Amino acid sequence: MKIKDKEFEPLLSGETIQQRIAQMGHLISTDYQGKDPLFIAVLNGAFMFAADLLRNISIPCEISFVKLSSYKEMKSTGTISQLVGLNADISGRHVIILEDIIDSGTTISWTLTALAKASTSSVEIASLLLKPEALTSSVRVKYLGFKIPNKFVVGYGLDYDGLGRNTASVYQIKS
Ligand code: IMP
Ligand code: MG
Repeated sequence: MKIKDKEFEPLLSGETIQQRIAQMGHLISTDYQGKDPLFIAVLNGAFMFAADLLRNISIPCEISFVKLSSYKEMKSTGTISQLVGLNADISGRHVIILEDIIDSGTTISWTLTALAKASTSSVEIASLLLKPEALTSSVRVKYLGFKIPNKFVVGYGLDYDGLGRNTASVYQIKS
């Protein structure tokens, strides 16, 4: 698959992703029985993961969406704009943050800090992807889809310069 100047090759098929998300959904549904969790999905990248995961949650739950960005094209800028769109009252709630990918960990750490000001009952992370070799700080990801190599990926919500989000599979850059 080609996007702009870059060639990408398949990494995770749509079927593989859906199977894993079904397992994650089952696990979360068991762990959060009676807790009415509030999912907070980080846009834009997590929109597909959030939609598919929520269809696999079998207990009462809510979802809210926030937006922030730290990524320009292929390199993390290290600077993060603010968290916008969180209009749900999260005090006393069991919160599960939904991320598409944790790369350096900057975004998720920043999100956790922003949420720490509210008196939530608990905060956990569910991420579809994690690049362990790229992590610069330790982040505890309670629900993880896949550990992947430290290579740029697109598809299933993830983009290259805004493009490539609209596929069922995840692709990694050819090198
Ligand atoms: P971090 O702050 O370095 O952990 O980066 C997290 C954010 O950068 C993710 O939520 C993605 O939006 C974006 N990102 C990180 N790695 C990739 C990638 O390989 N492809 C596309 N977007 C990525
Ligand atoms: Mg993202």
